[in-house]
Amino acid sequence: MAKTGQGITGGLTNYGDPRFAAYLRRSFASSMGYSKTMLQKPIVGITWTASGFNNCHRGVPDLVEAVKRGVLSAGGLPLEFPVTSLGEVFLNPTSMVFRNLMAMDVEEMVRAQPMDAVVLVGGCDKTLPALTMGGISANKPAIVLATGPMMTSRYQGERLGACTDCRRFWARYRAGDIEDKQIDQVEGSLATTAGTCAVMGTASSMAIMLEVMGLMLPGTAAIPAVHADRLRAAEASGVAAMELVESGRTFKDIITQATIDNAVKTLLAISGSTNAIIHLAAIAGRLGLKVDLDALNAISDATPVLVDLKPTGEAYMEDFFYAGGVGGLLRRLGNHLDLTTTTVTGERLADLVPSEDGWIDSKVIRPVDNPIRADGGLISLFGNLAPKGAILKRAAADENLFEKTGRAVVFDGLEDLSNRIDDPDLDVTEDDILVLKNAGPKACGMPESGYLPIPAKLARKGVKDMLRISDARMSGTAYGTIILHISPEAAAGGLLAKVQSGDMIRLSVKERRLELLVDEAELAARVPTPAPPAEKRGWLGLYNRHVTQAEEGCDLDFLKAGY
Ligand code: FES
Repeated sequence: MAKTGQGITGGLTNYGDPRFAAYLRRSFASSMGYSKTMLQKPIVGITWTASGFNNCHRGVPDLVEAVKRGVLSAGGLPLEFPVTSLGEVFLNPTSMVFRNLMAMDVEEMVRAQPMDAVVLVGGCDKTLPALTMGGISANKPAIVLATGPMMTSRYQGERLGACTDCRRFWARYRAGDIEDKQIDQVEGSLATTAGTCAVMGTASSMAIMLEVMGLMLPGTAAIPAVHADRLRAAEASGVAAMELVESGRTFKDIITQATIDNAVKTLLAISGSTNAIIHLAAIAGRLGLKVDLDALNAISDATPVLVDLKPTGEAYMEDFFYAGGVGGLLRRLGNHLDLTTTTVTGERLADLVPSEDGWIDSKVIRPVDNPIRADGGLISLFGNLAPKGAILKRAAADENLFEKTGRAVVFDGLEDLSNRIDDPDLDVTEDDILVLKNAGPKACGMPESGYLPIPAKLARKGVKDMLRISDARMSGTAYGTIILHISPEAAAGGLLAKVQSGDMIRLSVKERRLELLVDEAELAARVPTPAPPAEKRGWLGLYNRHVTQAEEGCDLDFLKAGY
């Protein structure tokens, strides 16, 4: 039985007569076939993020059914409701500009509708951050349920998983190593089941971080999308949501600065996606907390990479699951984390660390005394080109390029890049530094175009990597010596807007520096490359006027804590 203020008559529609509003709502709800008994129960909302435009969420209808089973078994009324669904590869100009829209949608619909707790179901790249951000701001009891990763497939005996292998084969195709017929066959074999990308991309990084942050049930982040355990996890999440109705525990009660710091360490230990830093900063910003890029370097130097997954390693998410999953990682990484943080079940993180006798596949989740690398996968860089920071995934980069001074070959924006990168007359050598400007949050929503292609004429000569610099992002499934998230971006007055082809740029990973070597007087005289015309109307206009820079998570300024 729902308590006063809960259930179907919670948060009444405002007609100026609450009793009339309750009577009308009960009447309309009963038209859906619910008995009076059912309508007296506490309500658990379940986000419906299935969409014909979201392959990663193909399993959502089955998950929602299983969540409902759990809610019903625990004495509640489960009601699913639609929210925005973001299928990474189906959105123009980039899914990133819609993350905040989805977060607002989730926040407002969770708050506006009469639910006493909510199960936030999602998985594809931007959906877990958006669900979490919305869940924080709605401030109702909530639990996250990830859709889970895809299984791998095979092409001529070779194991394939989206989407690191997508890029690997595409690079071979561009270099002329494989032909149309083969790339066509690979295209049909890359993504063959429901679920999110099969490697340690953004979706997997976020799911693992959210489990360590205590926002989903323990042991559930890595279960493959098509495994029966995923349905059992969904059912258990429904039961857990009913416990949350009782306890009233919200994300605001769970997430502290220690929770955010644990997530950063986890991201480093799994050599996770660069995008996850932006999403975590946005999540932290909703609570007045912070991902400190200065502190990131010190944390990174002290946190070993333990998980051997593509794009930096060898294995796939299904291997991580069978290797021991987040529980195995927690056991190995435990001493680096603050285990006093709270979780959605009310337990401490320490309570979720499996006992010492459990099996862990040490090839996939290494022990701390035999790490894949002794320091973390990501670092931040500062200097006149990035006074507020930039990110390098050093674990996915070529160390031979870490101390380098080189000539800039500059592209003024995405159109310029696609027009000229494969021009046989492009003045470029493999020792140059490719620079892309006007691809940041304000310019065009910060697409994943920081993975600049190697110019075709160099790719055909066998060049596999070059130092590349931009204010864009890159896919969590990509790799290379790629400096991203330069802040401030070119379109927000960053020095990047003044870089010209032929300028010298210096990178020192040792010193964490990124500098444009042009004297001050000359820079003062230069006219910056103009930003692309800003969209004024609709969502993109609102986004453009209010989006923050990468180090603040690219959230809208008016959605942050304290606004
Ligand atoms: Fe959905 Fe990669 S496309 S997670």
